[in-house]
Amino acid sequence: MRTIAQISDLHFGAHEPAVVAYLHAALSAIRPDLVVVSGDLTQRARKEQFAEAALFFDRLEAEGLRLLIVPGNHDVPMHKPFQRLFWPLRRYTRFIARGRSAWYCDTELAVLGLASAHGLTVKDGRLTQVQIRSIGASFAAAPESAARILVTHHPLVPLPGEEEGEVEPALRGAKSALKAVRAAGVHLVLAGHHHMPGVNLSGPTLSIDLGVMVVQAGTATSWRRRRAPNSFNLLRLVSPNEVQVEEWISEGGAFSSPGPCKSFARSAGGGWAATSS
Ligand SMILES: [Fe+2]
Ligand SMILES: [Fe+2]
Repeated sequence: MRTIAQISDLHFGAHEPAVVAYLHAALSAIRPDLVVVSGDLTQRARKEQFAEAALFFDRLEAEGLRLLIVPGNHDVPMHKPFQRLFWPLRRYTRFIARGRSAWYCDTELAVLGLASAHGLTVKDGRLTQVQIRSIGASFAAAPESAARILVTHHPLVPLPGEEEGEVEPALRGAKSALKAVRAAGVHLVLAGHHHMPGVNLSGPTLSIDLGVMVVQAGTATSWRRRRAPNSFNLLRLVSPNEVQVEEWISEGGAFSSPGPCKSFARSAGGGWAATSS
């Protein structure tokens, strides 16, 4: 069994310092096999914000934790049009990506991170055709026994929004990306961006079987919360087709997991269903 802590939308620069310390303590205690960081590390892509994020990650790695990180739209400088257009992830690359890999693979787990943040729009994400092709090529190299997981900042599917009936759009290129995800036998897709945690097994109309489990993380450390408290997800991969998801929350104090652990299983036909909640 492998465990993954999915933390997202830390937004250094708009963060709660105490909650950052609580998050560090929780991850140190849980010691997951992998910490997945699904983007929006900073609030405004400023150097000092990246430096704070880098320090946080360096400390976790110094304790022996393994990290896989992707950038979010907030990690692209909004007020520097030249940089935004021609080298949107320059600071992210310099401070965070460095020698870190966005691919992790062992006999039980294969995880690919793709950067969906780019310089052309303020908020929306996209995957390029090259990135979409890399989904199949990457997972083809993973052992059959491994759970396959794709990580992006922007979700691959439209999701229910904060208001009744509201739908948050998927990233651009989502249709062909989902096709590639299914063809590559991907089990889970993890994302952040909306600051609304949850697990989605079907589209917003509840009539589309996605054939893949979509796990959204809330904001782990930012005060830019929506209706949800600060949180992160702890995933236990019992097998590639059996996953438990636990939401850990902080309401101003240490992170804890107050709710029951939710279990999900994938049938031979490929569809996911909740087996307990
Ligand atoms: Fe965010
Ligand atoms: Fe975002």
